[in-house]
Amino acid sequence: MSFTIAIDGPAAAGKGTISRALAQEFGFAHLDTGLLYRAVGVKGGDPLKAAKTLAPEDLNRADLRSMEAGEAASRVAAIPEVRAALIAFQRDFARREGGAVLDGRDIGTVICPEAEVKLFVTASPEMRARRRWKEVGQGCYEDVLAQVRARDARDTERADAPLRPAADAVMLDTTEMSIDAAVAKASEIVSARLGR
Ligand code: DC
Repeated sequence: MSFTIAIDGPAAAGKGTISRALAQEFGFAHLDTGLLYRAVGVKGGDPLKAAKTLAPEDLNRADLRSMEAGEAASRVAAIPEVRAALIAFQRDFARREGGAVLDGRDIGTVICPEAEVKLFVTASPEMRARRRWKEVGQGCYEDVLAQVRARDARDTERADAPLRPAADAVMLDTTEMSIDAAVAKASEIVSARLGR
C-alpha cells in the first residue's frame, strides 16, 4: 500500500515534530525535504551540480540544522533547476510501499498533489521566532525574528514552487496550540482518511 502524508508550512511552525510523530504512530517512513536543500546549500560550489550528485551521506552532515544552513537552503531552493533535480527522489520516496510522510514547502502543491492527506502547519512569525530562539539557546530574539521574516519572504515570493497551502490542505495553526494538541489533531485527520 502507498499512502502519502504531505506536510507543508513555514520554518519552525512544528512540521518536523508533527511529521515524526505521525511517521512513528502509523509506521510510515519520513523524509524531511528541507534537508535536501540544506545539503545542497552547504555543499558549496555549483548548486545544480550539488543537487544532481547528492548522496545519502550528504544528508548526515552534523551542520545541516544550523541557521546558516537554513539560509543557504532557502537561497538555492529559489533556483528552478535545483528544485527540478530533487523532484524524482522525493516522488519515489512518497510512493514507497508502506506509507510516507514528507514535510517541506511544496509537497502538497508540486511534489505530491495526489497525496492522501495534506496539512499546512503554520504559526505567527513571532511565535516561530520565539521557538527557534529557545531551541538555539543563544543570540538575540529580534535577530531570529528578522531571519524568520526574511526566510518567509524568500520562500513565499519565489517564482518556482512558492510556499503556499494546496487548495485542499487542512490548515493547522499552532500559534496558540501545544505541540501535543497539534499532533493529536493531525493524527485524527490521518486516522479518518485511513478509515480507522
Ligand atoms: O524546512 P527547512 O527549514 O529545513 O527548509 C530549509 C529551506 O529549504 C527553506 O527555507 C526553503 C527550502 N525548502 C524548499 O524550498 N522546499 C522544500 N520542500 C523544503 C525546503
